[in-house]
Amino acid sequence: MAAILQRAAAPVREWVGTVTDNRPIMGDSWLVTFTAPDGFVGHIKPGHFVNVLPRGPLSFDPILRRPYSVYGVDAERNTMTLLIRPYGRGGQWIVEQQPGAQMNILGILGNHYEIAPRSTHLLMVAGGVGAAPLRMLSQQATAAGKNVTYLLGARTADQLLEASELPNAVEYVIATEDGTAGHQGFVTDMVAPYLQWADQVFTCGPTPMMAALRNVVMHNRFGKGPQVQISVERTMACGVGACLGCVVETRKGMKASCIDGPVFDMESVVWQ
Ligand SMILES: Cc1cc2nc3c(=O)[nH]c(=O)nc-3n(C[C@H](O)[C@H](O)[C@H](O)COP(=O)(O)OP(=O)(O)OC[C@H]3O[C@@H](n4cnc5c(N)ncnc54)[C@H](O)[C@@H]3O)c2cc1C
Ligand code: FES
Repeated sequence: MAAILQRAAAPVREWVGTVTDNRPIMGDSWLVTFTAPDGFVGHIKPGHFVNVLPRGPLSFDPILRRPYSVYGVDAERNTMTLLIRPYGRGGQWIVEQQPGAQMNILGILGNHYEIAPRSTHLLMVAGGVGAAPLRMLSQQATAAGKNVTYLLGARTADQLLEASELPNAVEYVIATEDGTAGHQGFVTDMVAPYLQWADQVFTCGPTPMMAALRNVVMHNRFGKGPQVQISVERTMACGVGACLGCVVETRKGMKASCIDGPVFDMESVVWQ
């Protein structure tokens, strides 16, 4: 496996999608579904993201697009779905868009997770809305006959992903910080026993969670395995490699996470 994962060979274009569905999930988040250009969603792989312009055509505020991972696609309807937790104005505008509304989208952006052909046991470690790209990855993996364990951590039970959102074949294990469901504590507390079982680990979530995961892996793994792929969440201004606002320090130099990432091999990243 290359230290820096491959760039996406997926098309990048700007389009206006029509919202087809919008429903609440995970307590304070929404699943927003919208149309894509014909045949487009077939190119999307787990880990890819899109940049949404969070305003209508008659407004210039906010100026910048907001990046969101793809949560799921429907090839028959040619739609894609994003899982959005509205931290501020951009996210709030997006979750207020009702069916029929139009949204300007730039994508497909970034690289994607890569399941090695020989891997049979896959561990996913998600924190909060980091659940999104790993949900799509678990769909792809179970469809390919892989064994998937999906660990999700949230602050409280209301903020967990419903089990029905994941494929039936997934072993779904939860942690909440307040102990209202599953293990009381952090999702990373549950990782160590799986490290001998897993051929690969895939993670997405807040940076402190990924740093904690790295510590657990470094202290509990056997030899060099398993390989860990992380999706980093940097603030992004352009999303296309022009502003260098999203750089990540790697062993091969500074990399723009919007084009060389957001998925990196954990070992390739320089951790402070
Ligand atoms: C590759 C990539 C994929 C992403 N995928 C998703 C996804 O699937 N679902 C999702 O909900 N978000 C995702 N994010 C994060 C999302 O892009 C930000 O939450 C969004 O840009 C915030 O915009 P805003 O206008 O809502 O908030 P802003 O107005 O930009 O920020 C409002 C406040 O919230 C804080 N804030 C902003 N973002 C975050 C954050 N991520 N965590 C904690 N505090 C934050 C800011 O510091 C500020 O104080 C992703 C980010 C990247 C880089
Ligand atoms: S967001 Fe501009 S270079 Fe990555």
